[in-house]
Amino acid sequence: MAENKIPVGILGATGSVGQKFIALLTDHPWFEITEVAASERSAGKKYKDAVNWILSTPLPDKIANMVVKNCKPDLNCKIAFSGLDSGIAGEVETEFANAGYYVVSNSKNHRMDNNVPLLVPEINAEHLDIIKTQPYKGCIVTNPNCSTIGMVLALKPLADAFGLEAVNVVTLQALSGAGYPGVSSLDIIDNVVPFISGEEGKMESEPLKILGKFDGKEIKYTEVKISAQCNRVAAVDGHLECVQVKLKKKTTIAEIKKVWNEFAGEPQKLNLPLAPEKTLYYFEEDKYPQPRIHRNIDKGMAVAIGRLREDPLFDFKFVVLSHNTVRGAAGGAILCAELLKAKEYIK
Ligand SMILES: NC(=O)c1ccc[n+]([C@@H]2O[C@H](COP(=O)([O-])OP(=O)(O)OC[C@H]3O[C@@H](n4cnc5c(N)ncnc54)[C@H](OP(=O)(O)O)[C@@H]3O)[C@@H](O)[C@H]2O)c1
Repeated sequence: MAENKIPVGILGATGSVGQKFIALLTDHPWFEITEVAASERSAGKKYKDAVNWILSTPLPDKIANMVVKNCKPDLNCKIAFSGLDSGIAGEVETEFANAGYYVVSNSKNHRMDNNVPLLVPEINAEHLDIIKTQPYKGCIVTNPNCSTIGMVLALKPLADAFGLEAVNVVTLQALSGAGYPGVSSLDIIDNVVPFISGEEGKMESEPLKILGKFDGKEIKYTEVKISAQCNRVAAVDGHLECVQVKLKKKTTIAEIKKVWNEFAGEPQKLNLPLAPEKTLYYFEEDKYPQPRIHRNIDKGMAVAIGRLREDPLFDFKFVVLSHNTVRGAAGGAILCAELLKAKEYIK
């Protein structure tokens, strides 16, 4: 292993998110993959024989020949990135945190635990301090749901500058959000499925924690009414969301574009390796943003926004797009781990 790099393991390494972790961590300047783990179906096999590699970037040789381990807390790594199925993630992540690992998770299980940060490094880096109140030898840090993250990044500058009163969102979510193999082709080709189990509840509750204030002891949730309707569409990657907002203070389209344009947070200040140069990109063209065109901007870590206009029911409406397996999952989790290291929580 390269000197000074932190050894990291991937739990759920064979899945849709696990593969993205591998692609994004290969050649990472601070972290090196030393372990890949998945279910009993995969354990004991070489990674290349256990995985159905669905990414367009080639599977790195070093990883291809690694033996997949069971998700037991005896792995040779310090950070455990979790892309585990939520049926098993809660229990496994607790075991790893108890054993002293720094767990950074994409799964829903621990997101709303009182002592677990639901972290978006540009928004609530100060929430990280709550890990000091966790009972574990290690810790658990979570990343929000893939559809929450794009919306909440667009909302944060509005909340700070004008105050948020109410939000309505309708999503058009990509297939990779359902994992692999995900939705059957006969269900989605020539179709839209107007239901994603559990998704609307997550979009309505997670932003309240993320935008909440940490007072040194607990996270006090913000009070905003959010209504979400979630749909699965036949894009491969990239969740598109039509958002309406009611604001506490009167403002203008020009002012909103200005606060989006100036938005930056800790990842940019600390120059974290996976931080996008700019987190929010506003597009003036009426037909933008679009999943195929904008999901990869700034390494897939940025959020594309467009179509800002006044709204007769709320105050304003706009469209947001973010890459669900990069910013909304593996990339977002790696950015959280970079923040943990940069703020010296990882010893
Ligand atoms: N896809 C997204 O856009 C996205 C975004 C944000 C969050 N998430 C969350 O991230 C997690 C992973 O999602 P995904 O889309 O990557 O799912 P996925 O493609 O279905 O992959 C699931 C992974 O979990 C492993 N696994 C399943 N059962 C297991 C068990 N009993 N013990 C140990 N490992 C087990 C699988 O290993 P085998 O291959 O061996 O079965 C596989 O590596 C989920 O909790 C999901 O909700 C996904």
